[in-house]
Amino acid sequence: MFDALLLEKDDTGFRASVRALEEARLPDGDVLLRVEHSTINYKDALAIANAGPVVRTWPMVAGIDGAGTVLESSDPGWQAGDRVIQNGWGVGETRWGCLAQRARLQGSGLVRLPEAFSTRQAMALGTAGYTAMLCVLALERHGVAPGAGDVLVTGATGGVGSVATALLAKLGHAVTCATGKASEADYLKRLGARHVIDRAELSAPGKPLQKERWAAVVDAVGSQTLVNALAQTRYGGVVAACGLAQGGDLPGTVMPFILRGVTLAGVDSVMAPIERRREAWTRLAALIDAATIDTITEEVALGEAIGKAQALLQGKVRGRIVVRL
Ligand SMILES: NC(=O)c1ccc[n+]([C@@H]2O[C@H](COP(=O)([O-])OP(=O)(O)OC[C@H]3O[C@@H](n4cnc5c(N)ncnc54)[C@H](OP(=O)(O)O)[C@@H]3O)[C@@H](O)[C@H]2O)c1
Repeated sequence: MFDALLLEKDDTGFRASVRALEEARLPDGDVLLRVEHSTINYKDALAIANAGPVVRTWPMVAGIDGAGTVLESSDPGWQAGDRVIQNGWGVGETRWGCLAQRARLQGSGLVRLPEAFSTRQAMALGTAGYTAMLCVLALERHGVAPGAGDVLVTGATGGVGSVATALLAKLGHAVTCATGKASEADYLKRLGARHVIDRAELSAPGKPLQKERWAAVVDAVGSQTLVNALAQTRYGGVVAACGLAQGGDLPGTVMPFILRGVTLAGVDSVMAPIERRREAWTRLAALIDAATIDTITEEVALGEAIGKAQALLQGKVRGRIVVRL
């Protein structure tokens, strides 16, 4: 038996609860993992609170991310005792997830835990941190180098925003954070932000082209915020878009693209190829230190995950939540 956060939906409605399940109920897969730590990402919160169409098959064990030790493997790439990270691939959506003490997964999708990280530290980063790294890699691929000018991070006190801020600052970029939490300015400055602005400056409709401010942007917010960020991006600048905390719409114009040569780079973590994942985790291990992880992380037990998911959706969480299994 193992403990898991089980999501159920039937004629009587939706339920999320911690339950003891039989290992025989785990899905097919070539790696059996003892999950030591998981986390609550924005998508996990939507699933656990039944606030968005994340779960596709019921019942579902929640948790898109996990880190732990391989117990059994028929994948030649892994053997018992190996320490691995799981992110995305529909786990926690279409396949039982990692907010559980056991998970059976596809070995081909796993990444080796970098030596620099414990399973707890890897989950303190989780999909949010790995996505922040994918955004930074996208900026680099488009030629954004330190010294290019100010870089804007939106949704800054969130998981993606916190890690993006720390990564960009470590790389030597001048980071401006947009947040709705003025009281967290010191937190953002500890992560390396040079300036902190009120997200209200970006969240309402504005002109199609505005004063050129940003050499690059990491946007976790979407909607009007992304449109304004594009309208404020300097000639030839790059905007990496990964999120929709404000909304999934894009109510803007093509003006930044056709008059300023701005590039909009889309970032997806769920189906990102394995080589890109390995690159992202290797870079995270090189760039993020233990003190930064401690600054952004709160740890909870599995039983507290449901309450934390609701708090996250209400905007009451700063940084990242690690769940110990
Ligand atoms: N593309 C991918 O593969 C991928 C991967 C991971 C995450 N995501 C997406 O990225 C987004 C951020 O994820 P996360 O894990 O960082 O979530 P999170 O921890 O909840 O952070 C989101 C942040 O966005 C800001 N925010 C919330 N509501 C807002 C609103 N109405 N208007 C403007 N800003 C708002 C808040 O920051 P402040 O309080 O500081 O303003 C909040 O902390 C989510 O939409 C998530 O689905 C996508």
